[in-house]
This record gives sequence, structure tokens and C-alpha cells, in this order.
Amino acid sequence: MKIFHVDSSAKRERSNSRALSRQFIENLRAEGVDVEVDYLDVTVDTPPHVTEAFAIATYKEEHERTADMRATLAASDALCKRLLEADAFVFAMPMYNWSMPSAFKAFIDSATRPGITYKADADGNIVGQLSRQKVLFITTRGADLRPGNPFSSMDALTPALKAAFAFIGANDPHFVDAQPLQFSDQEARIEALKRAHAELAGVAADWAAWERARVGSELHETA
Ligand SMILES: Cc1cc2nc3c(=O)[nH]c(=O)nc-3n(C[C@H](O)[C@H](O)[C@H](O)COP(=O)(O)O)c2cc1C
Repeated sequence: MKIFHVDSSAKRERSNSRALSRQFIENLRAEGVDVEVDYLDVTVDTPPHVTEAFAIATYKEEHERTADMRATLAASDALCKRLLEADAFVFAMPMYNWSMPSAFKAFIDSATRPGITYKADADGNIVGQLSRQKVLFITTRGADLRPGNPFSSMDALTPALKAAFAFIGANDPHFVDAQPLQFSDQEARIEALKRAHAELAGVAADWAAWERARVGSELHETA
């Protein structure tokens, strides 16, 4: 299973989202999945922010693009290729100011490309091209935004991720949200991490079953 694994936390060794995403890859391997990882740290290799040149070039038809326009789009083309080639995505990020880290937003802006990650069919309907892939979002939050908590209405992260990825075809993402990890007592943080670990183990078992079925049907087709 080829996994595109993306980390987005400004923190490194101390980052919980990075530790949880590494843990998930280990869980998959422990489930016997043959994992190949394509890794991107968007805080190091941050996709370029949208520029005027990008905004113009991205909506031009391929045959209308100049060499400069093609050069403007090259990094985004390469990112889309990585997405299309993966079987699954693991996107890990902290919540920053109720939404996503800006480096991950830059990733989405590079990954949402007309004619590549989404296309229009003959009737003009949008058809996202990433419907084949499994998607896992691992988010870490300082506060507890689960229902019934004072900040539960502040979650602008989950809907933004769902909308952006549904548009490019990823309609059924799985979320593991570790919370509260900062603005709480030690006991609540430990419990939150425990819950996240248990949920990740469950997702890894599901993905392993999916992978076995997928590889099995491929073998069946080639037999
Ligand atoms: C700049 C900044 C903004 C943050 N904004 C929020 C927020 O809006 N809501 C929240 O629950 N936690 C917020 N946090 C806390 C982080 O989401 C939390 O500590 C998370 O566990 C960090 O993940 P990491 O360990 O992978 O970096 C913020 C942290 C930082 C550094």
C-alpha cells in the first residue's frame, strides 16, 4: 500500500500529531500491510502560496498555457502526481486558531487542480479524481471540542477539510481527533492520547482488511 504521509505541525520532537501519524504507520506494518511511504513535511517543503500567476495559469486549458505558466504550475503538477499515485493518505495536523495550519492550506491550494485532481464531466458536473484512495486525518487540539464542551461550536477545521477533499473526490475521510491535549489537566491529556491510539489501531485494522481484499482481487484479475 503506497501511503502519502503528510505532517504539518510547527513542532518537531514534541509534536503529538507527528507522533500519532508515525504510530499509525507502525500500526499498519504490525497488521502485516506492506507499506511504502511517500513522506512530505509541509513545514519544510511548503507548497507555494497562490500567486497571481498561479491563479491565471491554473484555469487555462493545457494547450493555452505558455512556458512560463507551465513553470508556475510545475510544483503543483508534481504534488498532484504524488496524490494520484498513492493508495491512501495520512494527513496529520494540529488545530491552529480553530482551523488548519497555513502550510497545510497551501498544500490544499496546490492539490486542487482543474483537469488533474478534479474534472468536469460532459454535463458539467465536478468529478473528483481522488475517490480511489483511503483518507485519514489525524488532528490534535489543545481544547476539547467534542459535543457538550464549551468550544464544541468552534471547529472550523473538520468542515474545511471535509469540503476541500470531497471536492477532489475524497468523500469518505476518517478522522481521529486527539483532544484535549493542551488546555486541560494531565489526566485528560493522557486519556485523549489513549483514545487516539485506540482509534488509530482500529483504523489500521480496517485498512489492513481493505488492503488484503484489494490485493486479493488484483491477484484474482491477473490469474
Ligand atoms: C499557534 C497555535 C494556535 C492554536 N490554536 C488552537 C485552537 O484554536 N484550538 C485548540 O484547541 N488548540 C489550539 N492550539 C493548540 C494545539 O492545537 C495543540 O497543542 C496540539 O496538540 C498541537 O499539536 P502538535 O503537538 O502536533 O503540534 C494552538 C496552538 C498553537 C501553537
